[in-house]
Amino acid sequence: MTTGAKARAEIKGSHALRCIECGTEFERAGAEFRCPHCGDLLEVVYPGWAANEAHTAVWASQLKQTWWERNLSRSTEDASGVWRFRELLPHLPEPRRIITLREGNTPLFALPGCARAAGVDRLLAKHQGMNPTGSFKDTGMTVAISVARQEGFSWVACASTGNTSASMAAYAAQGGLRSLVLIPEGKIAWGKLSQALDYGALTCQLRTDFDGCLRILTELVRRHPIYLLNSINPYRLEGQKTAALELLEQLEWQVPDHIIVPGGNLGNCSALGKGLEELRRLGLIHSLPRLSVIQAEGANALVRTLREKGGRELVPVQAETAATAIRIGNPVSWKKAVRVLESTGGSCEQVSEAEIAIAKAEIGRDGVGCEPASAVTLAGLKKLVKQGFVQRHERVVLILTGHLLKDPEYTLKFHRRELLPEASEAERKRLDPCRRAPLQVEPNLEAVLRVLETAEKTDASK
Ligand code: F0G
Repeated sequence: MTTGAKARAEIKGSHALRCIECGTEFERAGAEFRCPHCGDLLEVVYPGWAANEAHTAVWASQLKQTWWERNLSRSTEDASGVWRFRELLPHLPEPRRIITLREGNTPLFALPGCARAAGVDRLLAKHQGMNPTGSFKDTGMTVAISVARQEGFSWVACASTGNTSASMAAYAAQGGLRSLVLIPEGKIAWGKLSQALDYGALTCQLRTDFDGCLRILTELVRRHPIYLLNSINPYRLEGQKTAALELLEQLEWQVPDHIIVPGGNLGNCSALGKGLEELRRLGLIHSLPRLSVIQAEGANALVRTLREKGGRELVPVQAETAATAIRIGNPVSWKKAVRVLESTGGSCEQVSEAEIAIAKAEIGRDGVGCEPASAVTLAGLKKLVKQGFVQRHERVVLILTGHLLKDPEYTLKFHRRELLPEASEAERKRLDPCRRAPLQVEPNLEAVLRVLETAEKTDASK
């Protein structure tokens, strides 16, 4: 067998997989990562923690100390901002054979201009786009793909709106695995597609949307021994939850009032919520921030699920948004996301295409930048402030999920006034001041000086 599981090492002992609905526990998952009894999602649980809960306070301070000291270590595991937190991750049989690109370790930036625009005193952004392949996916990928290799798989696969495929392809290449990517034709940003190609993935563009790609992949893994790396795979979420751990460490364990995250397939908000809950359970923090999820109006399945069905039943939508990363209508992890919103007291909002474009330009003007899907967080924050859900003095952290250079076409179209041609007059009045098209200038010093003088006069008149 060349493609599948050869000598499968059992990844067990330190953790179990538990169905989020019926509670059945398993040592390993089937190919689709669904409960064989009720078909619902699985999550990773750590039965061994119960023994430590008797002396939580000691364990909590030991963990904080250990994680901090690892910042000075040069070992491969410690250099990773994910595996540095390995006490809260599944224990792999061969810890030295993890596949890592030194993911995590992402910066926390101040966004003073965005804070003013949103109406809060200060605003921080944790930039997950500063991961090795430019998105938050790397933090989950290192864990799930390490499990895949240690279970003996030689092929891995995902359906993707772009970032998962870029990440998976890079980690597969680094770990000597083959990767298969299913992407919706014409609906992913060029930066992401070019990554998958360069990293050597077998890349298939399908004439369908993300949801269609995922449907086909789910059928494929039933028929062929290939390891599924979408966020339905609970090991992905284990890696992604470490962003919450790292954030709290950066904040010196002072819990912020709000964390705001974009919502697509809803894996990331579920992962961050799980990380926060575990920190509280283990006594590293004593309260939870409110974790809010923001979606594009055209891909608002979670918003509708909550408003129309009280969060009890998914309302799928036909997704459409220029923020292609979150162009998802049938989010797999909706139930996990609803639970996180309920347990943290977070909100769920939707924002328009114009609001996303403006917010993205504002994040850029603070010198930080991000891809369109990440900008929904700032657009959503503005709404949450207007609604009174977020107070001016409260501490807010936006999770920026992807790098600005992932989707340069969107940015160029925006500044050249080619994006949102159907914007209303009112929207155009708000969009235009954010746009900075490149100027056509004669190739001589005088011409450049004139441009500079005009710019200075314009600045002075503001
Ligand atoms: N932001 C970016 C930049 C993304 O790439 C994604 C998802 C999300 C936000 C939403 O995160 O799905 O966990 O709610 N991208 C996936 C992909 C779907 O295929 O790259 P989510």
